[in-house]
Amino acid sequence: MFHFGVDYYPEQWPEERWGEDARLMAEAGFNVVRLAEFAWAKLEPSEGDFNFDWLDRALSVMSERGIQAILGTPSGSPPAWLMTRYPEVFRMRADGRYLTFGNRREYCPNNPLYREYVRRIVTCMAERYAGHPSVIGWQIDNEFGDRCYCPVCTSAFQDWLCKRYISLDELNQKWGTVFWSHTYSDWSQIPVPLTTSNAPNPGLALDFSRFASDSYVDFQQAQIDILRHLCPKHFITHNLMGFQYDQLDYFDLARPLDFVAWDNYPRNQWSFHADVDSSGLALAADTMRGLKRQNFWVMEQQAGAGGWESLAVSPRPGELRLWAYQAIAHGADGVLFFRWRTARYGTEQNWHGLLDYNANPGRRYQEIKKMGAELHKVGDRIATSKVKPSIAMLLSYPSRFAFQVQAINPQFNYSAHFHQFYKALHRHGVAIDVVEPETDLTAYKLVIAPALTVMPERVADNLRKYVKLGGVLVATPRTGIKDEANAVVDLPLPGLLSDVFGIVVEEYDSLPPGVEQVLEFSLSELSVTNPPSASILCEILMPRGSEVIARYTRDYYASKPAITLNHFGNGQAVYVGTVGASPLYDTLAGWLLGVAGVRRLVAAPSGVEVAERWQGDRSLLFVLNHTEHVQEITLNGLYTNLLNGKDTIEGTIVVSPRNVLVLEKA
Ligand code: GLA
Ligand code: ZN
Repeated sequence: MFHFGVDYYPEQWPEERWGEDARLMAEAGFNVVRLAEFAWAKLEPSEGDFNFDWLDRALSVMSERGIQAILGTPSGSPPAWLMTRYPEVFRMRADGRYLTFGNRREYCPNNPLYREYVRRIVTCMAERYAGHPSVIGWQIDNEFGDRCYCPVCTSAFQDWLCKRYISLDELNQKWGTVFWSHTYSDWSQIPVPLTTSNAPNPGLALDFSRFASDSYVDFQQAQIDILRHLCPKHFITHNLMGFQYDQLDYFDLARPLDFVAWDNYPRNQWSFHADVDSSGLALAADTMRGLKRQNFWVMEQQAGAGGWESLAVSPRPGELRLWAYQAIAHGADGVLFFRWRTARYGTEQNWHGLLDYNANPGRRYQEIKKMGAELHKVGDRIATSKVKPSIAMLLSYPSRFAFQVQAINPQFNYSAHFHQFYKALHRHGVAIDVVEPETDLTAYKLVIAPALTVMPERVADNLRKYVKLGGVLVATPRTGIKDEANAVVDLPLPGLLSDVFGIVVEEYDSLPPGVEQVLEFSLSELSVTNPPSASILCEILMPRGSEVIARYTRDYYASKPAITLNHFGNGQAVYVGTVGASPLYDTLAGWLLGVAGVRRLVAAPSGVEVAERWQGDRSLLFVLNHTEHVQEITLNGLYTNLLNGKDTIEGTIVVSPRNVLVLEKA
């Protein structure tokens, strides 16, 4: 069954309205709602005084229309009575100041008192709804994140370090605390990296990021334990924030969940542009699927213009449906829109739901209703079908955290660098998994490891094995420079993988804004009329058995190698020692797909995305026109058009602006 629904806040609307809302939801084809994740003050209006009656009634109104429910545990927005009584529960910012009441996500995840209040309310909810016929699962909290620097966390960090390093000597040595007299003689001396102490020791900073991430993983686990015990029949998930969110190790957070859910907002006040880069949405979806290498849900899919203080661009006609299908094309088995009706009050007054303030079921509702009717026909065919990528990109949270402390060059951004490479591959209509560096990679034909700077031995071994067995591995600047403790290795770079790439990095240069190198390619397949430029970071490579693919042409390292290819075992390892703009990655991507023998789907014009899911050995082809123009693509066989009365089509077909086709090979 395909789960299609909406995030609903019955507590924010008069009860007389609920029935009409449920009717309209059912008419739109919705079969599920998410409820209650911000309703703590309604569920426990004062300490120990629980009131679930309203939620029971809301569940019955929904179930009368055949709509099931996911309940959110309400720990993401604690009530005023709790936070005024216990101000020490507030999260502390990196500048040493506590948050104050008035928004949400303002609690410390390690505070034992807070955990006790959360334990109580989650237990009460779990006991009440364990056997409820229309409750199917749980969302824990809401969009975990934000590091806390409070005294409770400081001492929890010290305990965490003690478990990790066992002895202080070990910690002092691994972090190199002899530098600037940071040597610790007692665990209690170790600080958290408050901004008041300026740039921290990189070892301490990386471990603090890991600890902060573990704090939420642990906070989440405490709730999972309750729910697993009391509600063994229900699924448990959490709503993550796609690729861009970089404060938590999402692989760790996803591990104990039954499946990943995430929140997909292509247009919002923080990305206030006329155009949406659809490759960014694809990357987010592929990351969310990669966390467990399993299908996912979208728990919040954009339903209208976003905005808190200001109002973002309104989704153009067709976009809501298009983005939802895009998530489906990348592996969503459930999609819920955020939110049902636009709130009249509160911080998110400007964040639009499917219905406007006045409850008018206007153009956005009609668009999604159309999609509901389509999914009624094809949802079962789609749900549980698999995306089958033969390319993996390695997302390393330790490396990402390390770059948060030392960006290396003000223009370098790990996430942007990662996205650039992804985008160049994605244009070719190839499926990509975003996975952790420890994953068994042997089934992939091509593996890209952007800026994998923190290189534990087990990761180096994994990559070495992958290449040895015949894989094609691609690395980019700063590879292997750091050990697990964020100290620089004392080996020739790229450290543990020098032999795999058949190079040593002789020197490196960090370029100021506006300064570029032009690259000269030595392979005929790569000769282009306008050679791409390189910028930001230039590593000067010295081949040790590898072939030179491109050279720098300027400055004191003119004619020195910038990109190399090495044969190692049965595989090949490409080192791209510099950062470029999109032409560099576009040039490399086409060539790499050929080197690795990756099969491309149908060729599609720019702005038209093609993606595939497999139901057994039957493939479903999604064609998504992200542009506002009519586009054409040429199919490579006979297909059935599943959304449109099952026509059979072949050859060159027309896709109208922002339209989606779901095709099954006939
Ligand atoms: C997030 C949250 C929602 C809501 C939306 C819109 O994704 O999970 O509660 O705040 O953003 O701002
Ligand atoms: Zn804290």
